[in-house]
Amino acid sequence: MFDVSQFRSHFPILNSSLSSGKKLVYVDTASTSQKPSCVIDSVCDFYRSYNANVNHGLYDFAVRATEAYELTRFRIGKYFNVSEKEIAFTYGTTDGMNTLAASYSRKILSAGDEVLVGAAEHHSSCLPWRRACADTGATVKIIPLRGKQYELDVDFYRSMFGKRTKLVVIQHISNVLGNINDIKLLTRIAHENGAKIVIDGAASMAHGPFDLSDIDCDFFVTSGHKAFGPSGSGFLFGKSHLLDEMPPFRVGGQMVNEVSFTDALYKLSPERFEGGTPSIASVIGFGESIKFLSEIDWVFARRYLTKLTKYCHDRLLEVDGIELYGSGNAGIFSFNIAPLHCHDVATILAKYGIAIRAGHHCVQPLMSLLGTNGTARISLCLYNTIEEIDFIVDILKTCKSYFAR
Ligand SMILES: Cc1ncc(COP(=O)(O)O)c(C=O)c1O
Repeated sequence: MFDVSQFRSHFPILNSSLSSGKKLVYVDTASTSQKPSCVIDSVCDFYRSYNANVNHGLYDFAVRATEAYELTRFRIGKYFNVSEKEIAFTYGTTDGMNTLAASYSRKILSAGDEVLVGAAEHHSSCLPWRRACADTGATVKIIPLRGKQYELDVDFYRSMFGKRTKLVVIQHISNVLGNINDIKLLTRIAHENGAKIVIDGAASMAHGPFDLSDIDCDFFVTSGHKAFGPSGSGFLFGKSHLLDEMPPFRVGGQMVNEVSFTDALYKLSPERFEGGTPSIASVIGFGESIKFLSEIDWVFARRYLTKLTKYCHDRLLEVDGIELYGSGNAGIFSFNIAPLHCHDVATILAKYGIAIRAGHHCVQPLMSLLGTNGTARISLCLYNTIEEIDFIVDILKTCKSYFAR
């Protein structure tokens, strides 16, 4: 059994009161997750007990800081079943995608090449590649969605590859639709057609471990803060031989072996992508969040999340005038309640201590497909409960009456 009360007890913020005196109901994990005490403590402990820069120092704290920093790399490698050498720290998904686009595009793209990008991609995933294509003369082609739930059109995707298709950019989970892409299948299709694939894993981090070696994707980027880790942490996974071939993007200290007045000899991956002083405390906290994730019994946890997701889906349908966008399968529900604006819905919920997100969720091209400027969004996590969903639905049912007064 998954014990939700026990799980919630790790998150001090869930017991705190809001300035209104209301109890917090936090259903905005797709924006950022709340943090367990172990992560908060590890960040504080670093600053309190052994704050030092990593890599160069020979004194006690510097060695400890470097060891703690590298332990995170080791834990990530183990959690996702890849070599730690293939994990380069970033400041998050946006940073990882920009690093990759700026660097790898110089290696593989030239005029006439094509990059396939999903229609539901976050701005962080589509914009870096649009810019890389504009800079190199390559073209972005959009992989369409199909059906009532806006699923990725895999058949069409298969037909899109040509001789000049170099790369696919696709999300694992949509932060708007809650749809889960079969990234193993999408990877196989890309490889059969001689293309590489990069996965945006921001929204899948809080869904437990998956085996990146088995999925066989070439690159994977994600953010620590989406699954109990601190903001300012994330990683770019890339197959070693691909990372080592890529020109570094952020050049400077830490990432270079030798510099003369005319030349520079860069380190191999992952260090070559970690120029400058990194977000050390955040990386150490990220390692603690990975340990926390590793200690969850995911068989029971996933079962709980599935139950919560189905319950939420069914209860939302009881709300008069609601329109749900996407399957919501990942516990992410985007909706509108006609004729209300999504910001009005979020404002009413906020009065009751309920934290949701409303707007375009940084996916404006998808909003145009959905025929709306924005949606209200509930995103569930393992610390949410059936009672919280009941409470939210009760309030949603009253929303329209605010405007009838
Ligand atoms: C699917 C998806 N991709 C990318 C991002 C960007 O992540 P970050 O802001 O942590 O860089 C997000 C954040 O909401 C996301 O949900």
